Amino acid sequence: MGRPKITVVGAGNVGGTTAQRLAEKDVYDVVLVDIVEGVPQGKALDISQAGPVCGYSTRVVGSNGYAETAGSSIAVITSGMPRKPGMSRDELLATNAKIVKSVVTELVSRSPEIILILVTNPLDAMVHVARKVSGLPKSRIIGMAGVLDSARMRTFIASELNVPGPEVQAMVLGGHGDTMVPLPRYTTVNGKPVSDLMSKEKLDAIVKRTRDGGAEIVGLLKTGSAFYAPSASAVDMVEAIQKDQKRVLPCAVLCEGEYGLQNVVVGVPVRLGRGGAEEVLIYDLTPEERKALETSASAVRELCATVDRLMA
Ligand code: NAI
Ligand code: 2OP
Repeated sequence: MGRPKITVVGAGNVGGTTAQRLAEKDVYDVVLVDIVEGVPQGKALDISQAGPVCGYSTRVVGSNGYAETAGSSIAVITSGMPRKPGMSRDELLATNAKIVKSVVTELVSRSPEIILILVTNPLDAMVHVARKVSGLPKSRIIGMAGVLDSARMRTFIASELNVPGPEVQAMVLGGHGDTMVPLPRYTTVNGKPVSDLMSKEKLDAIVKRTRDGGAEIVGLLKTGSAFYAPSASAVDMVEAIQKDQKRVLPCAVLCEGEYGLQNVVVGVPVRLGRGGAEEVLIYDLTPEERKALETSASAVRELCATVDRLMA
């Protein structure tokens, strides 16, 4: 049996670095798809040529079509437009929804067993669109945001406490936006609750910086948004699924009663394995935390209603 095939759609900043990180694992075949002629082919060739230096022999193929994607076990979807000057949020929503709709249709028709990891923003609404057009079970349509948002929180805590980042565990739930729900009560450093290690003021500031984490990077880069940590987060999810690791990561999935949330895509703790999102874990939440999650779910619901109206 050959290597599992992972397709990355969108060969821009997030897609290109995702393909690179996957190639470096040296256990997958990687297909990189974009509409811009030459870019996926050029990046695929460039990543392949790093192989002899870095010690991998991953086959990386770039394409403007989908024939090469047939038989993919997982696709990471990063294709989409950033918001341009003069463009409304609704216009961006409609444009990216159309892109995600066509990409998902192409992928699923050639790889019926595929698991989709959505990255394109607005993330939770794009998972909703992918679910509607694909006909796939909800366990196979998963959004990446919580791993990234948690990684940001872990980094800020590690820096404040001067400990290695991997020693910090954190959980950020909710939608990928201003209403996201970082959970300090479920945040630990080598098993110790973070609230025992820093003042409430410091922790509150870290929660705020986590919520604004994407905007902080946009403010610095000026011409684009984050891609190193986002691609690392998407690849972490690919690995958890493909290697059947059964790890619990915060992911955006359709909730049907979990946390009292009905029929809405939102970030919750999910066990990832070969079946995709195999289980949603129910954490004990305080009334305030539950309220924050409900508020975040309401914001996502509004966005999904808008996208449904725009696409009708
Ligand atoms: P980018 O602009 O560098 O790349 C997007 C790529 O999509 C471009 O190469 C473009 O040609 C391609 N594309 C557009 N339409 C396409 C189509 N129909 N088929 C195939 N490819 C198509 O953008 P970047 O920085 O890579 O971000 C990609 C998306 O991911 C954005 O929507 C961004 O907001 C989102 N994002 C989400 C994160 C999350 O936490 N969920 C984190 C970081 C980015
Ligand atoms: C981020 O959080 C843009 O959603 C992206 O960096």
